Amino acid sequence: MSESYRNVRGMRDLLNKDSIKKQIIESAAREVALRYGFEEINTPVVEYSSVFNKTLGESSDIVTKEMYNFEDEKGRSLTLRPEATAGIARAIHSNGLLGLGEYRIPLKLFLIGPMFRYERPQKGRYRQFYQLNFEFFCDPCPESDVEIISLAYNFLKKIECPINLKINSLGDNKSRDNYKKELIPYLNKYKKELSTDSQNRLEKNPLRILDTKNNNDLDILSKAPKMIDFLSNESKKYYNETKIILKNLGIKYEEDTNLVRGLDYYKETVFEFKTDKLGIQQDTILGGGRYSFEKETINGIGWAAGIDRLIEIISYTKNNYPLASVVFNEELKNEAIVLVNKLRNSNELNGYIEIIYKGNIEKKIKKASKLNSKFIIFVDEKQKVKISNKLNNKKPIIDIKNTDEIIKVLNVNWSKT
Ligand code: HAM
Repeated sequence: MSESYRNVRGMRDLLNKDSIKKQIIESAAREVALRYGFEEINTPVVEYSSVFNKTLGESSDIVTKEMYNFEDEKGRSLTLRPEATAGIARAIHSNGLLGLGEYRIPLKLFLIGPMFRYERPQKGRYRQFYQLNFEFFCDPCPESDVEIISLAYNFLKKIECPINLKINSLGDNKSRDNYKKELIPYLNKYKKELSTDSQNRLEKNPLRILDTKNNNDLDILSKAPKMIDFLSNESKKYYNETKIILKNLGIKYEEDTNLVRGLDYYKETVFEFKTDKLGIQQDTILGGGRYSFEKETINGIGWAAGIDRLIEIISYTKNNYPLASVVFNEELKNEAIVLVNKLRNSNELNGYIEIIYKGNIEKKIKKASKLNSKFIIFVDEKQKVKISNKLNNKKPIIDIKNTDEIIKVLNVNWSKT
């Protein structure tokens, strides 16, 4: 197929059911956002590359292999956003939202939109994908961590997504430094047996090895020192308090001391919600944690959920059929179009109106039935309409100008009459 008819690899069209599911997911997110006091923010899809290079980590997979970078006319390096948090933190900085005052920190923001990563496409993993992001910029405290986790939990419950929450603490800088001092020598002993990916990580970012999916690496890691044993007293206290509040709220979790996340900005609490429906490489439907930017002047905790993955998981049964379809005799076409326009502009109708333009009246009726229309409105007699419905033989005849009466008939629940 010629390029002009093909999608770019890994960038797909979301057709009917999938687009409806996307809308259901987004509406649920907006409703939960409202209840928790989060406001929407929209940042550009394109940022200067340095916005991401600096914050995501020079050695992270995203920065080393997955960014869509390009130069503009003036040779400036730009990037299609691979994630939202760095751009939102940049927006806070460039709009002077640090400090106190209205629309200032603490800030509760959400963003919904497309992200771009040059990954190997497969089910649940795309090069253009959609994320929901919730970010709570505030001073660190266990209560705010639980607030953001409970927001994720209640959102997933709302869309009836099975819930499987894993949590961990990466501790503060001191905890991680102490841990690395033990982990690196241990892993160096097995260096030759580790996968190539993990060998590379050992040099650049050893903690990321904990995220491996390689069975042999996992075997080696099973006897490795555990991060949890290296938390500083402050981090241990913070983590314990977080877990107590989660328990008080009845939010079930599993502790996973190997949970590290793929971006460098995280510290203290990290969490992921998993699924068993998408294969081990893309089993995280929602992930996040606490972070800080700009030399700890911007602190926050947040998460992002992959809308494409949620689309695969939630079920949906189509129920948006026409309330009524209008069929007409050719010489009454204008009257039919005027009637449809009036009905569509009424605020009183609980459903949508279709009009069938092509074919003789029999063909139009067949098409209206195929669309599963509840009512068929016949415009086949001057000045009059006849309304038939699927459930009984009543066929009221009404003056075409009497829109109120037509609406009354369409709003009657005929199954109960
Ligand atoms: P992330 O783990 O890179 O975190 O992505 C979050 C979610 O986006 C993943 O769990 C997954 O559901 C979805 N996702 C990621 N890559 C793809 C892809 N190629 N195709 C489909 N879905 C994908 C972040 O992006 C952080 N910014 C989350 C965060 C917000 N942390 C703090 N605040």
